[in-house]
Amino acid sequence: MKKTLLIGILLNTATFASEEGKNLHNQSCVACHVVQHNADFYTREDRRIVSLPKLGGQVSRCVSTLGLEWFPDEEKSVVDYLNNQYYKFK
Ligand code: HEC
Repeated sequence: MKKTLLIGILLNTATFASEEGKNLHNQSCVACHVVQHNADFYTREDRRIVSLPKLGGQVSRCVSTLGLEWFPDEEKSVVDYLNNQYYKFK
């Protein structure tokens, strides 16, 4: 009983986190990355992002270049979103 509840809560937070990442990405990132380039931008052949830490680093760079002042968990939710959606690093 307790276990099911806990799993339910965990699943909910996971869904919420990926929704959050998607929304944040839609608000602040698609302007350059999906509109100007296209959806393949993140997965193009000559990309420089070859690992999860590099992905995090680049997201940080874009976030601070834009002066967004996101909280670390917001940044992480976008990293997770991009990784789930495009990069698929382990
Ligand atoms: C003002 C335009 C602009 C915006 C808005 C922007 N970026 Fe970027 N982003 C860039 C540029 C320029 C690069 C470098 C592309 C290159 O040289 O490979 C880049 C590269 C990246 C890459 C690496 C792509 C790859 O695989 O090579 C990621 C990941 C990324 N940005 C994430 C984000 C995130 C997350 C946001 C939203 C917070 C964001 N960017 C918003 C300009 C932008």
